[in-house]
Amino acid sequence: MSKGFKIGFFDSGVGGLNVLYEAFLCLPKNTSFVYYADHDNVPYGNKSSGEIKNLLFHALRFLKLEGCDAIVIACNTASSVANKEFRASFGVPIIAMEPAIKLAIVNYPESRILITATQATIIGEKLKNLLDSLNAKNCDLMALPRLVNYAQAGDFRSAGGYLSTIGLYKYDVVVLGCTHFNYFKKEMKLANLGLDFVDGNFGTIRHLAHTIGVDLGKNKADIAELMKKTKFFISNLEITPSEIPLFEKCLARAKMSRSIK
Ligand code: DGL
Repeated sequence: MSKGFKIGFFDSGVGGLNVLYEAFLCLPKNTSFVYYADHDNVPYGNKSSGEIKNLLFHALRFLKLEGCDAIVIACNTASSVANKEFRASFGVPIIAMEPAIKLAIVNYPESRILITATQATIIGEKLKNLLDSLNAKNCDLMALPRLVNYAQAGDFRSAGGYLSTIGLYKYDVVVLGCTHFNYFKKEMKLANLGLDFVDGNFGTIRHLAHTIGVDLGKNKADIAELMKKTKFFISNLEITPSEIPLFEKCLARAKMSRSIK
């Protein structure tokens, strides 16, 4: 089999594993992955755009030096500060994410939509422009910073109590505008069984596939194989054996969450 693309994934932490998992399911078998979790600096959601941009620059340069052919910013918060010119300066395609609000509005035109994201994404210019361009009505915005902490601790269940207090009963659809939030679909559903979810994971990987010129396929969901194909870094250091279980746990959770629509 010919040598495939090496794709870098960046997130402040474990949230971007949801996007990596989507890529593993859809991209050609000979693709390999590098995943960079900036655990030295997570969370990003309470940082200024200048701070986030500096951290992102450092991580993207690192992934470029690792030999990645393309890089996905699997983090809505970091993507919100990375404009076209910034992304173009790395010499490899850099794919950014944004909360999938358009998808929610198109698929659920009459519904009450809750857009969840980090505080940094919510106050950012990029989200404001997106909402203006879509003339978005029936949409509320909510930051859920505690979910980032729960995800980083690999503690998904404890979020149930918190999620039962935030008024999810008022909505039909939740836009998961932070990759860490994907892990909590089950707990959100328990707070409102009628909720549907929209995220940008597949759209981002479709964009990546189009950019690098490969077809989308359908691979078997095998997390052990994904772990083998991926080189993990925590900030600038290669992952140590004691850190691997959190990543495996999150990928198993990503697989379960993906099956909840
Ligand atoms: N996973 C990130 C996102 O998609 C941000 C989480 C954080 O570091 O606050 O926005």
